[in-house]
Amino acid sequence: MTVHALPTPLLQVDNVSLEYADGARIVRATHRVSFDVHEADRFVLLGPSGCGKSTLLKAVAGFIAPREGQIRLDGKAVSAPGPDRVVVFQEFDQLAPWKTVRQNVVFGLRAAEKKLSRADAIARADEALERVGLAGFAEAYPHTLSGGMKQRVAIARALAMRPRVLLMDEPFAALDALTRQRMQALLLELAEQLRFTLLFVTHSIEEALVVGTRVLLLSPHPGQVRAELNAHQFDASSGASVAFQQASARIHRLLFDEPADIAAPLRARQEATP
Ligand SMILES: Nc1ncnc2c1ncn2[C@@H]1O[C@H](COP(=O)(O)OP(=O)(O)OP(=O)(O)O)[C@@H](O)[C@H]1O
Ligand SMILES: [Mg+2]
Repeated sequence: MTVHALPTPLLQVDNVSLEYADGARIVRATHRVSFDVHEADRFVLLGPSGCGKSTLLKAVAGFIAPREGQIRLDGKAVSAPGPDRVVVFQEFDQLAPWKTVRQNVVFGLRAAEKKLSRADAIARADEALERVGLAGFAEAYPHTLSGGMKQRVAIARALAMRPRVLLMDEPFAALDALTRQRMQALLLELAEQLRFTLLFVTHSIEEALVVGTRVLLLSPHPGQVRAELNAHQFDASSGASVAFQQASARIHRLLFDEPADIAAPLRARQEATP
C-alpha cells in the first residue's frame, strides 16, 4: 500500500503562546495553542471574551510575535504583516472616509501590489464590488452607507487583494441579526465561488457552525485549545435543524461546563459526532 503524505497545511500555528506587557505585568493571552489551516478551509476560532481570539489573529497577521512557538504560512515563519494575510475587522470605521468606495478598494490593492496599473486595479476593484453586491455604490462615500454595506466594502477590499488567507475578526458582530445572517450567507457564497482560505474569529456558537468548516474551541483566558470540531455539514439554512441544535449544545458544554485547567491535555482534539 502506498502511503501518501498529507499536503503541508497552508497555515500552521504551532504551540503558540502570546503575551502583552502591561506596565510591569505580563498578561498571557494564549497558552500553547496549535492548529493547522488547509487550503479552502473556513477555520473558526471560537471562545469566550478575553480568551485571546483577536490576539491570535493579530499574531497570524504578523502584528504580534509569539512569546513561544511559531506561526508558518506556506512553511515559512511569519515575522511581519504582508499582503498575503488581510484582516477584516468588526468596526465600521475601517474604511478611509475621504475616499469613495472604489478608491478605498483600489488604494488597498495598489498598496499591496506596487506593479499593478491603475486601470487593472480599478477593474479588480469593480469586480470585487460587484461580487459583494455594491456595483452601484462605487462612487459613494463610506458615511452614506449602512454598517452592512461598509462591511461589504471591507470584504471586497480584502478579496480584491487575493490574500493567501483572509482573516476576519468578528466582522458581523456589530450588525443587526437579519443583516448578520445575510452577511454570513454572502460570505459562504463568496467562499464557494472563490475558494479562498478563511480564518474567522467569533464568540457566537451559531455563527461558528454556519461559517466554519472546522471550529477550534478555546478555553477562557488565557486561551488554550479545548477541542477541534467539524462543521462542514452546516450552512446558513441549518439553524433550525436538530443536528445543528445538538452541535451547538455540545459546544456550549465543551466551552462552559468543563473546568478550565483539567480539561484534557493541551493538544487534545475531539471530533464532532453529534
Ligand atoms: N493591548 C493589550 N495590552 C494588554 N493586554 C491586552 C491587550 N489586548 C488584549 N489584552 C488582553 O489579552 C487577553 C486576550 O484579549 P483578546 O482581545 O485577544 O480577546 P478576545 O478573545 O478577542 O476577546 P473578545 O471576544 O472580547 O474580542 C485579554 O485578557 C485582554 O485583556
Ligand atoms: Mg476580540
